[in-house]
Amino acid sequence: MKVLVVYYSLYGHIHRMAEAVAEGAREVEGAEVAIRRVPETLSSDVIAAMGAADAQKAMAHVPVCEVDDLAAADAIAFGTPTRFGNMCGQMRQFLDATGQLWSKGALVGKAGTVFASSATQHGGQESTILSFHTTLLHHGMVVTGLPYTFQGQTRIDELSGGSPYGASTIAGGKGERMPSENELAAARFQGRHLASIAAKLSRK
Ligand SMILES: Cc1cc2nc3c(=O)[nH]c(=O)nc-3n(C[C@H](O)[C@H](O)[C@H](O)COP(=O)(O)O)c2cc1C
Repeated sequence: MKVLVVYYSLYGHIHRMAEAVAEGAREVEGAEVAIRRVPETLSSDVIAAMGAADAQKAMAHVPVCEVDDLAAADAIAFGTPTRFGNMCGQMRQFLDATGQLWSKGALVGKAGTVFASSATQHGGQESTILSFHTTLLHHGMVVTGLPYTFQGQTRIDELSGGSPYGASTIAGGKGERMPSENELAAARFQGRHLASIAAKLSRK
């Protein structure tokens, strides 16, 4: 059973969450997990002007995703930073190149899930995840989230992302906050949940 974790991350927050989603998925027996990033659309000058050159170097070892990698997977976790309450343009551009897969029904019946990050606590994590789900549903995917059996999403003793829609992290206005242990636990739970649903779906 192949689980693909595909993401975009400018400053590294979603990259860290993607690693945690992958860790969780690997806990499910029979899961082969791959991490990929979607192609960059910004020039290196713009990336440098946004102060993300070092973060990009730290993620450079992650292979770039091909559209066909989606078709080869049994389950897919998508990670995106929030852009104005929606997925980022890099992810949108990648998904907009999946028309061929859509026309063949190549993703129909595969389990899918979405995780996100935003600078501020109420800056659109839930809208990003929920609006992303429409693309998964157009592809006929089986949308999964973060069940409340992950009890970390009910805690109010500390600042935390995470909702029934999916794991998320609050990066801070300057990107100064990396995912907390509770947010990483949510991401691991979501990865494990996705892979366990995929295992059930693939049972003959
Ligand atoms: C063009 C742009 C739009 C953004 N829109 C939002 C937003 O609507 N709400 C928010 O809280 N953060 C917003 N952010 C902040 C990003 O979501 C934040 O930098 C990101 O989640 C950090 O994750 P990353 O390090 O994986 O890129 C925006 C950032 C950019 C560059």
